[in-house]
This record gives sequence, structure tokens and C-alpha cells, in this order.
Amino acid sequence: MQRPARGRYNPRMLDDLERILIPQDVLARRVRELAQDIGRTYADSPHGLVIVPILAGSIIFLADLIRCLPFKMRIGLIAVSSYRGTAPAAHGPRVIQPLNVDITGRDVLLIDDILDTGNTLRFVREQLRERNPASLRICVLLRKPAKAPLDVTADFVGFDIEDVFVVGYGLDYNDLYRNWPAIGVLRPELYS
Ligand code: XMP
Repeated sequence: MQRPARGRYNPRMLDDLERILIPQDVLARRVRELAQDIGRTYADSPHGLVIVPILAGSIIFLADLIRCLPFKMRIGLIAVSSYRGTAPAAHGPRVIQPLNVDITGRDVLLIDDILDTGNTLRFVREQLRERNPASLRICVLLRKPAKAPLDVTADFVGFDIEDVFVVGYGLDYNDLYRNWPAIGVLRPELYS
């Protein structure tokens, strides 16, 4: 007999969710497919792949994705504050921890949890371009096509989703819910 959804997840987090948008098994399958695509793209890379995850939203996605990659790679860390919903619009994204590896002449794959307004990825992409990588591609777990701007495109996309506020699998609200194992829609009354 199939166990009820409530039994599979931490009930206190589940109480804060309106619904589950992407269940764990669907996430896991798609992450494996993405890793295969990425693996094919960089299989013959003469430069060596450096994966640059944008902290902290991409940590769970990163951990699952890179363990499916069949070749050697490096990780470069960069932490960015996007001031989402907490600061005046004049404050764009800001680097709070600069990139810690040399990417000059390397193939770089920038990873983020979600392509929403694209402000964060646009900003980080420019930071990385200034360091002259051999190539620079973008991989996101989620994309909101209704909002994603035309000038920020992702080369690898896990899922296109509707314009709802999602949490889990690394995505947070007020630094909570990152450890929720699936992608869920937060109850609107909790953040509006
Ligand atoms: P954008 O693309 O708008 O995204 O620059 C900036 C960062 O904001 C976070 N973000 C979200 N986090 N649910 C979340 O939990 C969402 O629906 C959502 N949209 C954006 C995310 O960390 C992204 O990198």
C-alpha cells in the first residue's frame, strides 16, 4: 500500500507548503539526465571543466549533479547576495565571497538553483567573463519562462515552472526549507 505523502516528509515543513511541485523521484531522474547532457558536452574538453555553483541555493542540486558526472572536474566557489525581497531595487546582486579558483582558459559551467528574474545570473556571468574562461555555459535546475529575460539564457535546464515561489532542494525562504527533499510551493500567506 502506498504511504500517504505526509508520512514521507517532515510534517512541520509540509505544513508550510501549499503543494509539492516536483517530487523527489522526478528530481532525481532529471538530475541524472542533465548530468548525461553535461557529460556529453564536456567529454572531450581539453581545458578541464570548472563548475561554479552560486551559493547557497545550488548546493543540493550541485551535490547530486556532480556525483553523476563521469570525469574529473574542479569546483570554484562564489557567494552572491541577491537581496531578494529585502532591499531597495537600487541594490543589485553583490559578491560576498569572490571566486576562489583561476578559471582563465578553462571551460566553466555556472550552476544556479533557479533562473527567475535573471539578475543574479547576469551579474555572476559578467564577473566570470572578466576572468577569460575558454567557455562559459549556464545550468539551472529551475527556470520561470514567464519571467526569464532574453539576455540570460541557460544551456542546461532541469524544469520550466510556473511563476510561483518555490522552496526545497536547496531553495530557501529566510534560509529555511533548503533541506526539504523535493520542490514545493510555499503557502503565499507565509511570505506575502
Ligand atoms: P533571480 O533570477 O531573480 O534569482 O536573480 C535570484 C535568487 O533568488 C532566489 N529565488 C528563489 N528562491 N524560490 C526561492 O526559494 C523562488 O521561487 C525563487 N526565485 C528566485 C534564488 O536563490 C535565486 O538564485
